[in-house]
Amino acid sequence: MPKISDALILWYNHHQRDLPWRNTHDPYLIWVSEIILQQTQVATGLDYYLRITKKYPTIASMAVASEDDVLKMWQGLGYYSRARNMLATAKIIVDNYQGQFPCDYPGLLKLKGIGPYTASAIASFAFHLPHAVVDGNVARVLTRLFAMAEPIDSINGKKELDRLAHSIMDVKQPGIHNQAIMELGALVCRPLSPQCSSCPLNKMCQANSRGTQELFPVKNKRVAVRHRYLIYMYIEQNNKVYIAKRTDNDIWKGLYQLPLIELPHPIPQHEINQSIALAMGLPEPALTAQLLHETQHQLTHQKLHLTFVSLQLHQDVNQCHFLKNYEAIDKQQLHGYAFPKPLVTFLFAH
Ligand code: ADE
Repeated sequence: MPKISDALILWYNHHQRDLPWRNTHDPYLIWVSEIILQQTQVATGLDYYLRITKKYPTIASMAVASEDDVLKMWQGLGYYSRARNMLATAKIIVDNYQGQFPCDYPGLLKLKGIGPYTASAIASFAFHLPHAVVDGNVARVLTRLFAMAEPIDSINGKKELDRLAHSIMDVKQPGIHNQAIMELGALVCRPLSPQCSSCPLNKMCQANSRGTQELFPVKNKRVAVRHRYLIYMYIEQNNKVYIAKRTDNDIWKGLYQLPLIELPHPIPQHEINQSIALAMGLPEPALTAQLLHETQHQLTHQKLHLTFVSLQLHQDVNQCHFLKNYEAIDKQQLHGYAFPKPLVTFLFAH
């Protein structure tokens, strides 16, 4: 359907934002930008992209970086497995692919952290191959354009989206076509109050003709949000603070944190001391916890209820088994470690 693609590309040529990853065909730079932009808005991602590609201008320079350094660059962006996978893939490409990205879709798809979206983006932007991208913006454009009622998070919905995305692609200009449809989703075909009067596809759009734009995309019900109750403890002694690297295989793996306990229920203020003593295996008089800050942090399927306390131990810390898993570092060095966002806010903005 070149008519749709022609209209898209004509619009894009006049309205595109000037973004640095659009001025290159280097698969490494395109890959870095797409990993950042997967779950991050352009306005936020731009600064990270510029800093990361300045520090690591080539895949070889990234491949020799430490995971701590890459996570530090990534601090605040969230979904940290993106950074860990990016580093692992950089090392694999340098060690096993002579430093060259695979230049076809199946080869790209084999790499850690590269799924159908990223493989299509690199294949089309760097190698001009006709693979259509489907991200959230594109899904919104397509479901409205074709009034697609299938939920986009179902297996059939994903197949249908992929089919529609390829059906409207101009295979002679796959890279520009992909950029154009993503840009339309970001700037015009927005989730709420889409700007249909200035949309180049408005005459062909089934949702626009029926006035049903905001019913699309259709999604299956979201999974229930899990509530978690966490107490972080700021323990300072002789100008040193206790921290530890997270090893749990979750989204914050590899980041650092303060001593932490988790409770199965909300924590009333008058029970904080007792709860901490119990969790740390100490008698209650052995410590004093002072409430410093309470906040909430929303993850995709979890709501974290965070309590920050300053903790004083009235006994020798070496006797405290709980702290054996933590190390005491100079307070001045806290800035050198990567922490999850709510900890950054607590440590550095208070
Ligand atoms: N979001 C994901 N990829 C993008 C790109 N290449 N340009 C703008 N926004 C994007």
